[in-house]
Amino acid sequence: MPAMPESRQPRPNPAARHIAEAAARPSARLRAGLGARLSARLSARLGARSAARSATRVAVRATARPRAALTAFLVLGLVALSGACGGERQRDRFVIGFSQCNKAEPWRTWMDSSLMAEAAKHPELEVLYADAQQDNSKQVADVESFLRQRIDLLIISPNEAKPLTAIVKRAYDSGIPVIVLDRAIEGDSYTTFIGADNREIGRAAGEHAAALLGGRGQVVELKGLPGSPPAIDRSEGFREALAKFPDIRIVADPVADWLRDKGREQAEAALRAHETVDLVYGHNDPMAMGAYLAATAMNRAKGLRIIGIDGLPGPEGGAKAVQDGKLDATFLYPNCGKEAIQTAAKILRKEAVPRHLRLQTARITKDNAAAFVAP
Ligand code: FRU
Repeated sequence: MPAMPESRQPRPNPAARHIAEAAARPSARLRAGLGARLSARLSARLGARSAARSATRVAVRATARPRAALTAFLVLGLVALSGACGGERQRDRFVIGFSQCNKAEPWRTWMDSSLMAEAAKHPELEVLYADAQQDNSKQVADVESFLRQRIDLLIISPNEAKPLTAIVKRAYDSGIPVIVLDRAIEGDSYTTFIGADNREIGRAAGEHAAALLGGRGQVVELKGLPGSPPAIDRSEGFREALAKFPDIRIVADPVADWLRDKGREQAEAALRAHETVDLVYGHNDPMAMGAYLAATAMNRAKGLRIIGIDGLPGPEGGAKAVQDGKLDATFLYPNCGKEAIQTAAKILRKEAVPRHLRLQTARITKDNAAAFVAP
């Protein structure tokens, strides 16, 4: 794993004005989002129509002067056609619908700010934003709303795979390119998937846990939302690595839905149920921090090892928690935002893009945490 991947510093964001709930400001959205696109399309179409109307007028007169009129008709027909095609070719504005599954989670705020900062570098792109608040049916409705607004491209970070698969397929089958971020859907109805390898991260976390425990001990695993593929992969990878250590036992593996407060509750219950817990593995840093808070409040933090995933920068991020000794390690989960916009811009320019863009992860421990706190 490389020591220091992409630039992870959220930057001041001129495009932040476009982070508006799709449902909250429909009129502003329509003006800002669709005005330019519709006017480009309309002028192409109107240009074609008025040329066609002139052609009709010429055709009426053609009874009097057949050859000249026929020539004029053909010329104008060609002008009308090239106007229509040229209008499409010369499009310089595109509307992207970005469907976020839950912006209340810090990692997703990080993703949003990276994505919007990159979008601000592309004057040709307008980003409509919708937050599903960890609700699958709201996310389906958000995408339906984007489709009604005739977006040119969909970026989606799905809450759970199964419930979002049909709407993503509908968008893709209707000819809209789809970029899926960080959490996969079922099947292959998308243009590009961008994310890191969660199984590899899980394996690395398992190997690190085994090293911290010296090959022996009791582990609590705090799981993410069960229907989101990173939770499955991070669990399977972890268990695969621990399979080589028969003296390490996972004594509890409750679901905490990626959330700090649920992580805290579940960790507290597990610590109560098991007198000896040597290590907690959280599928993300907020849940791992929940375990830290629970253990501290219960006076069980001494000697307890805690591992998370995400490695956010900044004073509240997981990298700082490692630097401060609250977490023993975390694994960087790159936020995908910059790559999402770069890939979208390529797709809209009709350039080839990979079907799967795999981003690099990194292990963060006290030794290298500083570089991740302030990248
Ligand atoms: C945020 C989050 C991250 C995690 C990712 C997995 O919603 O839970 O903390 O790494 O999603 O998809």
